[in-house]
Amino acid sequence: MTTNGNGKQDIILRVKNLKMYFPITKGIIFQHHMGDIKAVDDISFDIKRGETLGLVGESGCGKSTTGRAILQLYRPTAGSVKFEDRELTTIKGEDLRRMRRHLQMIFQDPYASLNPRMTVGNIISEPLEVHRILNGRARRERVKELLDIVGLNPYFINRYPHEFSGGQRQRIGVARALAVQPDFIVCDEPISALDVSIQAQVINLLKRLQDEFNLTYLFIAHDLSVVRHISDRVAVMYLGKIVELTDRVTLYQNPLHPYTQALLSAVPIPDPIAEAEREKKRVILQGDVPSPANPPKGCNFCTRCPAVSRVMQTHGIDCKIVEPKFSEVASDHWVACHLHEACRP
Ligand SMILES: Nc1ncnc2c1ncn2[C@@H]1O[C@H](COP(=O)(O)OP(=O)(O)O)[C@@H](O)[C@H]1O
Ligand SMILES: [Mg+2]
Repeated sequence: MTTNGNGKQDIILRVKNLKMYFPITKGIIFQHHMGDIKAVDDISFDIKRGETLGLVGESGCGKSTTGRAILQLYRPTAGSVKFEDRELTTIKGEDLRRMRRHLQMIFQDPYASLNPRMTVGNIISEPLEVHRILNGRARRERVKELLDIVGLNPYFINRYPHEFSGGQRQRIGVARALAVQPDFIVCDEPISALDVSIQAQVINLLKRLQDEFNLTYLFIAHDLSVVRHISDRVAVMYLGKIVELTDRVTLYQNPLHPYTQALLSAVPIPDPIAEAEREKKRVILQGDVPSPANPPKGCNFCTRCPAVSRVMQTHGIDCKIVEPKFSEVASDHWVACHLHEACRP
């Protein structure tokens, strides 16, 4: 990680009160607005240059939408996204196109995200074409260099995606993202669709590239065991909101939100003594995630939270009515839970 002159880490991306709602409409000719799917509902966080922020939560909680709203692949409903102090939510046209060069994405499914009718060379050179970087022979040499950087044989440049394994296809996706020399990459579950045996190779590749090119990552995953190996800090998301955000060590040693605790109790620990100790207080979540079209009132985790009656007894707060604030309960440790809000310093 890099620091600026003051010894303070330099912030590359600031997300403030970001909301991404998808309208629900009814009717064929006259579209009546029936409500909204609140995929991302008022989230705020910063990412420092050169760091990896992990974003974790169950399927459907709004992780991919967050990544897309940051990159302006969706235009946010509300809130601000600042990249190097430039507001992205209002820029358009040529300015947006130019800005996109700095912000890239690696997709979850290396099978679906590569055009089967294009050669690997064309897939990787497409972003160079869009951003008018290099020409003819020089561009082809750059593609070969990119193949080499991600650990693929440059000789494969004329082959098609189906000729590669899953792990190799994800390397092609990484090469395509790197082509324009971005600063920030959203890695959207880049290893979820891969065999366990090759997941570590792709993680190691991403780490090596981060060091080599001083990249900043938002690394999305649906479980905490994956982000543990790559993240500096981790944000835990539930039903469109961030419920906890802190550094990786604190999150794993001292998780404060009941949802984080539940997610962690599903992650295996190699140490049998620690495992036995934890077995005693294992938290198993009941029920399913509610619909983001109709989230619960109060704290949106209240329908599944094991601490609701404890909050009522100890703090006299009804989680089903009062929404907890996302607040900094210790230095750089943010939580949205009444259990912790009340004991703020
Ligand atoms: N383009 C869209 N239109 C309508 N609803 C969407 C769209 N994209 C995502 N959603 C909904 O938003 C919620 C969050 O989705 P997503 O961000 O894909 O979650 P995750 O990546 O955490 O699995 C889901 O309920 C999903 O159905
Ligand atoms: Mg997703």
